[in-house]
Amino acid sequence: MGIWKIRGGNRLYGDTYIQGAKNAVLPILSGTLVSGCVTKLTNVPRLRDVDNTLKILSCLGCQVEWTGHTVTVDSRNAGFAPIPRELMTQMRSSVLFLGAMLARFGRAEVSMPGGCMLGPRPVDLHLKALEDLGAQLELTDETITCYASRLQGERIVFPTPSVGATENAMLAACGAWGVTVIENAAREPEIEDLQTFLNAMGADISGAGTDVVVIRGMRPISYAEHAIVPDRIAAATVLCAAAACGGDVTARALVPEHILPITDALERMGCQVTKGKDSIRLVSDGVLTAPGVIETLPYPGFPTDAQPLLLAACMKASGETTFLETIFSGRLRHTRQLQRLGGNIQVDDHKAVVTGVPRLTGTTVQATDLRGGAALVIAGLMAEGETILVDRDHITRGYERLDACLRALGADVIDTD
Ligand code: EPZ
Repeated sequence: MGIWKIRGGNRLYGDTYIQGAKNAVLPILSGTLVSGCVTKLTNVPRLRDVDNTLKILSCLGCQVEWTGHTVTVDSRNAGFAPIPRELMTQMRSSVLFLGAMLARFGRAEVSMPGGCMLGPRPVDLHLKALEDLGAQLELTDETITCYASRLQGERIVFPTPSVGATENAMLAACGAWGVTVIENAAREPEIEDLQTFLNAMGADISGAGTDVVVIRGMRPISYAEHAIVPDRIAAATVLCAAAACGGDVTARALVPEHILPITDALERMGCQVTKGKDSIRLVSDGVLTAPGVIETLPYPGFPTDAQPLLLAACMKASGETTFLETIFSGRLRHTRQLQRLGGNIQVDDHKAVVTGVPRLTGTTVQATDLRGGAALVIAGLMAEGETILVDRDHITRGYERLDACLRALGADVIDTD
């Protein structure tokens, strides 16, 4: 459950360091299973989803150690076992164990994954890719079982880009004979990070970050190290909060090129954005102008994960902002809670039109998903009075101490636990 008490009105000042990417470390942790070796991961964010993934690896016989922001996984003695349902259903990324287990064991048995309720989240593209590589599937309402006496490299063509399906195909293809070519692959930076990690483990993968990824198999090595790429959505969260509250914030240890659509929008809203090699400084007087039409698209377009964050920052911006959510059909649910704070948001199917209002007023709101919860925090920081945010556990799945991070910048956010 967990409750945060937020008092709006403070400006934000100072420096903050961005965590490692949740959506990079989770597929990479599945990847530690692909061959028997010892891997050391640094810049690992302290998240519940990471903890759950390490529990899954332990169930499969891996030795795991997590100290600070460093995780070591020894998968040399891993062995097949069905993954417990209570772990699988905690998050979406657990579905990536299908590809990793097929590559390592030639079989996999998982239940349907969990994850944020953003509308239907099918896994048909994942399963088609694994079948293309020669896996036989058995499905029930609750479970997915795969067998592959031998995975065979193949040409996989996705009808639409899918981050998870691209990652699952890459993981499985590491255990396939011959060359696999993935066409219409998703291009997110987290996929490039997975390629870098798997190649450090002895894979031969190229093209990640483009729409064609080629996997030429794997010559496993005994030890690999990898630093997780910075979390571009965590960076977007802090910058949207600074824009909305006003102030002068420098986000460090990030890749500015990974969030260009967000910084472009914040500049259109009147913020002064200065990009360094691995930092972004944002100065805002808190008086913002609507940025125009924001359409979410696969990378390098505007990321769906940042839509709730920028939408919150637009709630007091002068003028009208139209958000077109093209990735997830249920990703405007958070607007109902934002309306409770006084936001003028008209939602019609996948479109939300935000008209700036002069003030928001604190009240009790409920987080319904990870990024929707973060959006409520941003809105609470803009509102007059106190906002009580219920179900902050959605937020702690993907942010390492977002409350403490914002408090260090001057925000009045208290975790009541
Ligand atoms: C990943 O989810 C991220 N999660 C999401 O971040 C992110 O919003 C999404 O990619 C962006 O595309 C992780 O990496 C753990 P998709 P994923 O497959 O892989 C449809 C967050 O807040 N689709 O790229 O599940 C799907 O319904 C989370 O950090 C199928 O139809 O997303 C969606 O409409 C939320 N069939 C579209 O593709 C499939 O088999 C893109 O989904 C798979 C997906």
